[in-house]
Amino acid sequence: MDFNPSQLSAIENYRLLIGTIVPRPIAFVSTVSQDGQRNLAAFSFFNGVCPKPFIVSFAPMRKMGNLEKKDTLLNIEETGEFVINIVSESLVEKMNLTSPEYDFEVDEFEVAGLTPRPSQRVKPPGVAESLVHMECRKVDILHFGDEEGAGSLVIGEVIFLHVDDSVYDGRHILLEALQPVARLAGDAYARTTDIFHLPRPSLK
Ligand SMILES: Cc1cc2nc3c(=O)[nH]c(=O)nc-3n(C[C@H](O)[C@H](O)[C@H](O)COP(=O)(O)O)c2cc1C
Repeated sequence: MDFNPSQLSAIENYRLLIGTIVPRPIAFVSTVSQDGQRNLAAFSFFNGVCPKPFIVSFAPMRKMGNLEKKDTLLNIEETGEFVINIVSESLVEKMNLTSPEYDFEVDEFEVAGLTPRPSQRVKPPGVAESLVHMECRKVDILHFGDEEGAGSLVIGEVIFLHVDDSVYDGRHILLEALQPVARLAGDAYARTTDIFHLPRPSLK
């Protein structure tokens, strides 16, 4: 089967996008508005860009139906700050509770029963239950599209990073302790337990 995305609907493209780019890491993003309203939401269009400067990106789409910007994007446009909390298996159900599109005034920390953790360098708190907190400052935001399916790419620099001692051996992050989950399509998730190793060929 061949597809021309420009001739498909947003939802058809969305299904192909989330079915083919898998598994996806999850950024659990905390923000606050200019007047202090807290927000917390998950984004699986998330990845690293480069290590120095330490750049990451994630992509909030416009709301399906009305094209409005999601609260996370509005807050980052307003304040330029956000925290990415990494989602371990123990956190995934609470993370899921934050995913409905609540009104702006709703604090998803309270909805999900999660604990705000003061950050070192930015205003938004992290999620205390998370084992990794990336405190980020906005570098740029790129916008794509102006119809259903439109979205934005938020690029941020991690200006402070907290990694819980239990998931770090002084050199590497301990995957088996962090137990990060990944997003597949629909309501499917993946664990990071079925691991195999493949050493790179040497040029020597
Ligand atoms: C695991 C997971 C991953 C998600 N990934 C994305 C994503 O990459 N982009 C997006 O726009 N929405 C994504 N969502 C949906 C948002 O979390 C949802 O629209 C949320 O209500 C946005 O909140 P906000 O308006 O407070 O920013 C995801 C939801 C879940 C549960």
